[in-house]
Formats: sequence, C-alpha cells, structure tokens
Amino acid sequence: MTITTVSTIKELRSILDGARADGQRVGFTPTMGFLHQGHVSLMEAARQDNDLVVASIFVNPLQFAANEDLSDYPRDLARDTELSQGAGVDVLFTPDVSEMYPFGPVLTTVSVGEISERWEGATRPTHFAGVATVVSKLFSIVGPCRAYFGEKDFQQLAVIRRMVADLSMPVEVVGCPIIRESDGLAMSSRNVYLTPEQRAAAPVLRRALDAGLAAIENGERSGPAVQAIVAAMLDAEPEADRDYAAVVGAGTLAPVNELSGEIRILVAAKVGRPRLIDNDGLVVGA
Ligand code: PAF
Repeated sequence: MTITTVSTIKELRSILDGARADGQRVGFTPTMGFLHQGHVSLMEAARQDNDLVVASIFVNPLQFAANEDLSDYPRDLARDTELSQGAGVDVLFTPDVSEMYPFGPVLTTVSVGEISERWEGATRPTHFAGVATVVSKLFSIVGPCRAYFGEKDFQQLAVIRRMVADLSMPVEVVGCPIIRESDGLAMSSRNVYLTPEQRAAAPVLRRALDAGLAAIENGERSGPAVQAIVAAMLDAEPEADRDYAAVVGAGTLAPVNELSGEIRILVAAKVGRPRLIDNDGLVVGA
C-alpha cells in the first residue's frame, strides 16, 4: 500500500476517525526523522501488532535547549518517507512548528518529576518536559492503542511510561531493543556528526557496558564497583568525554548499591560534537 503523508492535525484526525470507526487498531511511532534502522524496527513492530500504523516526523523545539542543535538537526524527508513506506507505515504525519504550536510558546506543559531529573535530565534540565509535552500532545492527536519507543533512550522510555501511568493515558507503551552498528555503536540520528576518528572511538560506550556486565556476571555485586569499571573504560578513550556511568534499578533509574533484581547500566559521553548515550541491562538473581 502507498503511504499517505499529511501535515495537518485535521487531515490526520479525519483519516484516523474513519479507521477507528471501522474497528481498526492504531499503532504509533513518534520520531524526529533522519530515520535509521532503529526507527525502522519500531515501525516494523507497530506493523506486526496493529491494523493501521502512524509515524510522525517532527523536530520538537521544546526538547532542545538554546545551546543545542535544533537549527541544524539532520533532516531528509524524501528518504524518511521511503524508509517508512518500506517498514509498513500507512500514514506519515509531518506537521510544522506552527501546526503543533500555533499559539507560540506553550502555556501547558507536562513534566514527570524526579525520574526526569537525574542522568540526561541533569545535563539537559528542560529536555524531558519538552519530550513529555510533545508526546502527550501527539498521543492526543493520534489516539493510538500502542506506541513504540526505542530502549536506546532508556530514560525517555521510563519517563513516558511513568507519564502514561500517572495520567491514565489509554496507550500501551512498547519498548523495543536497541539496534546497533556491526561494531556495537547504538544507532542514532546524531552519529552523522562524528568525524572518522570519533566514529572509530565511539564503540567504547558498548565496550564499557560489556565490561560492567561481565563484572556482574563474574559475581561483582557492588553497584559503585561496577560503575568504577565502566567509568574507567570510558575515561581510557581520549576521544570520549564521560558525562556519567551509572548502575541503576531498571524501574526507578535510581543508583543501586547492592545489585539484585533488574539492573541497567547507563552511559553518556561527548565524542566530538554529539553526546552519545547507551545502556544495557540484566537481571541479578538472589
Ligand atoms: O526519541 C525521539 O525521537 C523524540 O524524543 C520523540 C519521542 C519523537 C519526541 O520528540
């Protein structure tokens, strides 16, 4: 089937109201475009589970701070349309800023408290309120049964899950595995900013996670000790400027001292221009 591209809320609602009236279940993949195989995997998961698949491409100004890359965030709508169609998307929603925020600065925002404040939130204090606000607005516009987000942005996924639970939004949030390049680098639209030297250094994030996981698998049960191993590996790479290495509970994202239950290791480092993030987890038995 040919993909339909719409850029107004009115057009999108009229398509989706008709589909819902016919009993179709709507799956939704919100993106900021410049798609890669990670996004494609979300779209394919939505295709598997739902009758009608909507994807959005909107570079959301609310989630960028003044010093960030809003104006030159990479864009390629023609390629994004092709990839979306190949992944089975039925409707591509591509609003512009005036369609999404017609009254200028928004007065109504959504912020998700403590879970937004650590890690990414410490470096980017306004970021998650921008994400939560646009995602809740997109949920109101699309009205999906299910929405798909990548685990690469693990804190974003946790923030959205908490928002949906706290506000009783009628959406099932589906987290999908990280898609990686062959050398382990997690796919990200911002990887395009890496120079060849930085690109060669970037898989250090994956190797640092592996070192942490291996320590746990070999019996280490101290969160701070695992954190030190991960941090040391990041610090040994001259191209990487570590922001954090953290060993947290997968649900709370709070640091864990004595490891047990579902654990996630989170890392973030600036490698040249982009700040790269990655994570991996495991369940530590009693
Ligand atoms: O993960 C992203 O691409 C964005 O944060 C999202 C969820 C599309 C909101 O703008």
